[in-house]
Amino acid sequence: MKLIVSKDYAEMCQKVARLFAAQITLKPASVLGLATGSTPVGMYAELVTKYKEGRLDFSAVRTVNLDEYVGLTGDNDQSYRYFMNHNLFDLVNIDKANTHVPNGMAADPAAECAAYDQVVESMGGVDIQLLGIGNNGHIGFNEPCGHFPVDTHLVDLTESTITANARFFATMDEVPRQALTMGIGTIMKAKKVVLMASGKAKAQIIRDTMFGPVTPNVPASVLQLHPDALVFVDEEAYSVIAAEK
Ligand code: GLP
Repeated sequence: MKLIVSKDYAEMCQKVARLFAAQITLKPASVLGLATGSTPVGMYAELVTKYKEGRLDFSAVRTVNLDEYVGLTGDNDQSYRYFMNHNLFDLVNIDKANTHVPNGMAADPAAECAAYDQVVESMGGVDIQLLGIGNNGHIGFNEPCGHFPVDTHLVDLTESTITANARFFATMDEVPRQALTMGIGTIMKAKKVVLMASGKAKAQIIRDTMFGPVTPNVPASVLQLHPDALVFVDEEAYSVIAAEK
């Protein structure tokens, strides 16, 4: 695991965007594993800027997203499909047919999950996987639990995640209680993993992720075992590690 500290959020986004731009330039048909949440928004904006300046071509790029809420349609402005369209896909020359987000409206979630794993496999796996991190250490929606789930699966969100995500919804009742998420096994199979974290609220969980025990109670800690995992933080998200040095 390699830690890259930036002075602030903007600088961190620029660095991560450069990494993704290099990946796309070197391999135009790359499979990008993509994430939602507020953290990657600035990184996507940097990619859009590079595209608009004529420095990036998404025409052959393929994407797989980590997760989706159960019960939200793609045109619901809180769905992760909507987020991706709005923050990236609609703003660059990607072929939407090459973009994949689990279908949170699937009548048979188990079949949807199995089909999603097939899609990832048929593309030859993920070249570079972007991750944010939940306050409880979740990646995608792999919540702390007794084991590391391997495949894409249906998950009951924890109270802490439901509370954290409530800020995006008008009322507590509207916050989805379940999601479909790529498993830890698929994330770990990505050739390169890039985790981003910003702000003081993430400082303790970043410390536990990098220097605590590898445990499914902190799902992101499994990345200690990945051969090419980069953790990008700003100074605030670095502050607990810095204080221990
Ligand atoms: C959600 C997403 C995660 C994301 C997390 C953190 O739970 N499923 O992929 O990492 O939120 O979000 P934020 O970046 O807004 O802190």
